[in-house]
Amino acid sequence: MSITYKDAAGIEGMRVACRLASELLDFLTPFVKPGVTTNEIDRLAHDYMTQVQGTIPATLGYQPPGYAPYPKSLCSSVNHQVCHGIPNDKPLKKGDIVNLDVTGIKDGWHGDSSRMFLVGETSIAAKRLCQITYEAMWQGIMRVKPGARLGDIGFAIQTFAEKQGFSIVREFCGHGIGARFHEDPQVMHYGRPGTQEELKPGMTFTIEPMINAGKRDIKDGPEKDGWSIVTRDHSLSAQWEHTILVTETSYEVLTLSAGSPPIPAFVPQNKLAEVPVSA
Ligand code: MF3
Ligand code: CO
Ligand code: CO
Repeated sequence: MSITYKDAAGIEGMRVACRLASELLDFLTPFVKPGVTTNEIDRLAHDYMTQVQGTIPATLGYQPPGYAPYPKSLCSSVNHQVCHGIPNDKPLKKGDIVNLDVTGIKDGWHGDSSRMFLVGETSIAAKRLCQITYEAMWQGIMRVKPGARLGDIGFAIQTFAEKQGFSIVREFCGHGIGARFHEDPQVMHYGRPGTQEELKPGMTFTIEPMINAGKRDIKDGPEKDGWSIVTRDHSLSAQWEHTILVTETSYEVLTLSAGSPPIPAFVPQNKLAEVPVSA
């Protein structure tokens, strides 16, 4: 498989699919409360996608080689679950942290985004992990521009997170995305500056670091469902995800909407309004 570069029509298609993914997370936000089950959130997401947005839940029935078909319309990863948690009938409780990861297909284009949610009042440690993971994602995003390399992104995320005493999960990474859910390249959340693939305009990929409060090691979850991944030491894990376009001059975050959390103050804001140099 090789990297796909999106033309003007592809970029417009990606903009729409990605905005819808972010708006789905906006829609779900008020429902994430103590007592709700992740199955209830999954049902809300499924109905909103299929009946309101006219999007196809990309995760439903998704089956990479060696996996069982994924059975739900989103992923919900609670506390020490790292990623790919399958929604179930267990109610969320006060103090939980949960990642909701949604991917919708609109007119053949995939939009992929996830956020952390605090369920009621949580510990200061849990809040800090969620906030630092959010900032770590943006540390990666702000390195995106033509001529930069994927290793620059990974290095920025890794050094930021490790400085805070947290660790980066290595087994899962961001990915190219477009007409297919998971495309080349793989976007590592650790690495060395100046290494790996060079970024070029028209590339679209996700940045989605999974960061653990404890050690980076992971294992299969106790559900043995073939999907759920947990931290080996049972420490908390957080993840945020945006889908990004490489523009002529820098980047455009495609998975933004009215309910997106504020962009960290350290991110140069001029980049967001930059006008492309070429048509
Ligand atoms: N949305 C996840 C990602 O960010 C992938 C989930 S695949 C699933 O790449 F099958 F688990 F849903
Ligand atoms: Co995702
Ligand atoms: Co993704």
